[in-house]
Amino acid sequence: MEVVLLENAIEISRAVSSIIIETVRKKPAAVLGFATGASPVETYKRLIEAYEKGLVSFRDVTTFNLDEYCGLPREDKNSYYYFMKENLFSKAGFDFSKVNFLSGDPEEGESCCEEYGKKIAAAGGIDIQLLGVGTNGHIGFNEPSDSFSDGPFKVRLAESTINSNSKYFTERPMPAYAFTMGVGDIMRAKKILLIATGESKAKAVYSMVKDPVTPHCPASILRNHPDATIFIDRESAKLL
Ligand code: F6R
Repeated sequence: MEVVLLENAIEISRAVSSIIIETVRKKPAAVLGFATGASPVETYKRLIEAYEKGLVSFRDVTTFNLDEYCGLPREDKNSYYYFMKENLFSKAGFDFSKVNFLSGDPEEGESCCEEYGKKIAAAGGIDIQLLGVGTNGHIGFNEPSDSFSDGPFKVRLAESTINSNSKYFTERPMPAYAFTMGVGDIMRAKKILLIATGESKAKAVYSMVKDPVTPHCPASILRNHPDATIFIDRESAKLL
């Protein structure tokens, strides 16, 4: 695992977006794995800027998002589908027929999980998986547990995740369950880029980089990946 320390979130977004843009320029039909949340937002802005300047086309790119809340339809403002549509896909020329998402439907969602894993394999695997990290070390919504997951599954969200994300739910309570790609899905990506900024991530960054690899800090498994880079700022690097 390579650790890249940069001054702030803007510098990180420049570095991460350049890698994504370079990859797509070399391989226009690249398969990209995307994350939601605050961490990738600046990077998405840089991707939109590059698209607007005509420096890159995402038209042929296939995407797979990491996770979706259970019980939120796509058109719900809190769904991760809606987030991606607003923060990237509709502003950077993505082809929505190549956008893949786990279903948030409580019934349909579980049966779609297996299919999602197969779809990733059929697309040739993920070229770049973008990640954030939870304050508890989660990646996707793989919460700390006694074993590492493999394929996509339904998860009960940890208390700390609910505490971190419930601020976004102003009109309804935050769902307690979600569907997520498994740790195996993430580890099968050819390249992984993780963004962790701000003091609230300092403990997770320390565990990920320094503690033994353990499913109690799911992000620590990235140390076993042949091409994983974590981008941290001064605040998240504080305990290193
Ligand atoms: C979101 C996801 C999560 C977030 C993590 C950090 O798709 O997979 O693992 O990356 O919860 O969230 P932020 O970036 O909001 O601090």
